[in-house]
Amino acid sequence: MKQDMIVVLDLGSEENPKIAREIRALGVYSEIHPHDITLAELKALPNVKGIVLNGGPNRVVDGVAIDVSQEIYDCDIPTLLVDHRGDAPWPADDKERETALKNFIFIICGAEANWNMDNFIADQVELIRRQVGDKKVLLALSGGVDSSVVAALLIKAIGKQLTCVHVNHGLLRKGEPEQVVKVFRDEMDANLVYVDAVDRFLDKLAGVADPERKRKIIGGEFIRVFEEEARKLDGIEFLGQGTIYPDIIESGTKTVKAVKSHHNVGGLPENLNFQLVEPLKMLFKDEVRACGKALGLPDNMVYRQPFPGPGLGVRCLGAITRDRLEAVRESDAILREEFAKNGLEGKVWQYFTAIPDLKSVGVRDNRRVDEWCVIIRAVNTVDAMTATVENVPFDLLQHITRRITSEVKGVNRVLFDLTTKPTGTIEWE
Ligand code: XMP
Repeated sequence: MKQDMIVVLDLGSEENPKIAREIRALGVYSEIHPHDITLAELKALPNVKGIVLNGGPNRVVDGVAIDVSQEIYDCDIPTLLVDHRGDAPWPADDKERETALKNFIFIICGAEANWNMDNFIADQVELIRRQVGDKKVLLALSGGVDSSVVAALLIKAIGKQLTCVHVNHGLLRKGEPEQVVKVFRDEMDANLVYVDAVDRFLDKLAGVADPERKRKIIGGEFIRVFEEEARKLDGIEFLGQGTIYPDIIESGTKTVKAVKSHHNVGGLPENLNFQLVEPLKMLFKDEVRACGKALGLPDNMVYRQPFPGPGLGVRCLGAITRDRLEAVRESDAILREEFAKNGLEGKVWQYFTAIPDLKSVGVRDNRRVDEWCVIIRAVNTVDAMTATVENVPFDLLQHITRRITSEVKGVNRVLFDLTTKPTGTIEWE
C-alpha cells in the first residue's frame, strides 16, 4: 500500500467524517474505525501513523459510557485527543485547528502527504486483483456517478473478467442509455450486457398512480431483471457495488446511530450468494468524482446532478403514460441544455422538469388545444433535508418556456415552482 493512514476512532462524535476529511484535505489518508477496535486489529491496518480520538462532548451511547481500550492508550502509535474529557481543548478556529492537525500529522506522526487519486487507484487495482484472482465479477451499471466509477476502476483492474449489466427501464434521462453503451462498450471495451426492459417496466407501471407503489414496482422489477441476467452468466462469484463512504457512515457505525435510511433503488439480490467488491467504500462523494475523472470518464458523467433511483418515474406524476413520459424526458433535456449554455450547470444543485396528470386549454395555430403542462424545479441545498429555490433569470425562464411549448409534443404551458423545502419536497412525488 502506498498511503500512510491516520485512524479516527469513533467515540460517538458526529464530527468524525469532518475530521477525516480535514486530514485527507492535508494529503493524508484517514479512515474512521469503531472505538472497540483491538490493538491487533488496528496494527493490521496498513501504514497507521497516528490515531485521533474524537469523543466530542457526549461519549455516552444508550446510557453507557464508551471508551477505547487501555491497550490503545498504551500503544506506541501517536494519539491526538480531540475534545477528550474536556482536558485537551480543541481549537474552534479553523486556522488554529488546521495548524494543530498539521503539527500532529506531519511532525508528531511523521506521516507523508501521499494521499492522491493516482495512489488510490494503484492501490485499489492491486487489492481488486488480489481479491478477485481469476474469477468473474458482475456489476449493475446504471450510468450514475458511483456505478460508473466502480465500472471504470474494475475495467482497469480486471478488464474482461468484469461483466456490466445496464438495465434500461425507460425512466432514464435523454441520451443516458446511449452514453453508457458508448463510454463503456465502445470506448473502454468492457463486457456490457444492455437490457432493453422498457416495455416490461412500463407495462408493470401502467395504471399505477401511488408514488410509493411506483417506487416498489421499479425497485422490485429492477432486481428481477438483474437476477435473470445474472443467472444467464456462468461462473460469477463476485458482485461489484458502488457503495461510498457516506453510505457506510449514514447507515450507522457501532457508535453512531443511523442518520437516515436509504431510499435507493440500488437494492440488489441477496440470494445470489456473491461476495462483494466495493472499491469506493472509503471515498467521499467529491473523491469518487475525482477518481472517475482520473480514470478518464467524461465530465458530464462524473459531475452530474443527483438523479433519483426511480428516475423519471417519479417525475411523470400519477399513473405513467408513454406520451407524458416522453414529454418529461424532452423538456428535461431542453432545461439541462439551456442551464449548461447559461452557466447554471454545476452551480444549481438539482434541476429538472415534472409533468402532472393535468391538461389545460390553450391555442395553437388558431385552434383550441387541450394539452399537458410542465413544471420546472431548480433548487439548492447542502444535505437535501432543506432546499431553497434558484433565482433563475426571468428571460431565461421565458426562453426555456418558448422552447418547451414549441418543441415538446403535447405541452402548451410551463410553470416554475417557487416552493422551498419545506413545505415542498424537492421531488413532486
Ligand atoms: P425529496 O423529494 O425527498 O428529495 O426532497 C431529496 C433528494 O432525494 C432524491 N430522491 C430520491 N432518490 N430514490 C432516490 O434514489 C428515491 O426514491 C428518491 N426520492 C427523492 C431527490 O431527487 C433529491 O435529490
